[in-house]
Amino acid sequence: MRLKLIIAFLILSTTLLSCNDKKTEVYYGKTNKVTSLEQSPLEKSIKIGKTIYTDMCVVCHQANGKGVPKAFPPLANSDYLQDNQKASIIGLKKGMKGEIIVNGKTYNSYMAPLGLGNDEIAHVMNYINHTWGNNFADMLTEEEVTKVIKK
Ligand code: HEC
Repeated sequence: MRLKLIIAFLILSTTLLSCNDKKTEVYYGKTNKVTSLEQSPLEKSIKIGKTIYTDMCVVCHQANGKGVPKAFPPLANSDYLQDNQKASIIGLKKGMKGEIIVNGKTYNSYMAPLGLGNDEIAHVMNYINHTWGNNFADMLTEEEVTKVIKK
């Protein structure tokens, strides 16, 4: 009876997680029981990135990633973000200032450095690169962020 409940729970949570539109891998043992439920490294990073975004970015770029017209540029569907991954990483580390064009609109403002560690920059970049329909770039790691910043 308890076993049935556990199996039902696992099946339910698998179904719910797979609705998350990101792929969740489930491994079955020889007895066909769910033996583990794993998230890919990218999914884990996106999850952490979301908490950083909610803490530190949402006030300006908004929960829907659309920013605020004339003040804060959008990240959702941003051609700037898509085409300027390195400048975005450096901007997050050291601040971003001066004229940029995002989806045809000019911004000439300032984003202060937020004191993020390179690991945090990797996570938040993975979040904004893979949210709101964005599908920009492969997964970024702390090592890659460090390389970009050192150059
Ligand atoms: C206080 C407001 C503010 C906060 C907080 C903020 N930004 Fe920005 N962000 C800006 C502004 C303003 C610009 C445009 C700078 C310019 O004009 O040069 C910008 C530009 C950007 C860009 C490049 C332009 C684009 O839209 O693609 C990215 C990427 C970005 N921010 C990501 C983030 C992330 C991720 C965080 C949180 C870790 C964050 N920002 C926090 C105000 C902010």
